[in-house]
Amino acid sequence: MSSALSSPLDSQKKKPLNILVLVSGGGTNLQALLNAFSKSTPPDSSGDNVTRNIKIAAVLSDREGAGALERARAANIPALLEKPDSRLPKPQRRQELSDRILHVCREKQIGLIVFAGFLSILAGDIIKEYSGKMINIHPALLPKFGGEGMHGERVHKAVLAAGETESGCTVHLVDAGTDTGPILLQRKAPVLPGDTAASLAERVLKEEHIAIVEGVNMMAAKLEGYNE
Ligand code: GRF
Repeated sequence: MSSALSSPLDSQKKKPLNILVLVSGGGTNLQALLNAFSKSTPPDSSGDNVTRNIKIAAVLSDREGAGALERARAANIPALLEKPDSRLPKPQRRQELSDRILHVCREKQIGLIVFAGFLSILAGDIIKEYSGKMINIHPALLPKFGGEGMHGERVHKAVLAAGETESGCTVHLVDAGTDTGPILLQRKAPVLPGDTAASLAERVLKEEHIAIVEGVNMMAAKLEGYNE
């Protein structure tokens, strides 16, 4: 199909980019995605914005009772629970959980995986099979203040302890490391006098909600032809 001949209707015929959102907590980043993409918005009359042909196919949590699952149910999006098998040693536990998630991805023809406050680390085939098709949001300006164990309040405490005057968030591709994949975008937020980890986290979270939607749109454009 040569682009010169494509009409605005073509993108409506395209299969949407199916997204799997991985969560562990309250899900405010998920909510930002639901607000932006929960219903496939047809492209505008110019035929651009094909990137909006995005569908949140499912939300998956590794923790029971995650508020994010409630948000998914409220939006009529399949809400899945896959808990790590605590009987297994860490490497096998990660592998086994990753294989279950990969099975879900194949079943639902997932084109992009979005880590939105997901605390488990994945390993094995999923890293290879979804290389370049997984993004994570981290509440700091990587490469600083990232890595294993660096999540939630701990990140903001470390930023304050280091005397940083600026913080922010990072959307990056997921690779076999923790918070080490190529950076797609960053949004900054000032560290203000008297800031606590909680007040800084709140300010950064506002930037995260914008960045995660931008990151998904960037990836959908990158994955041009995701419908083929
Ligand atoms: C966010 O700050 C995110 O960057 C971090 O975990 C927090 C999750 O927030 N990984 P929410 O569950 O999306 O509200």
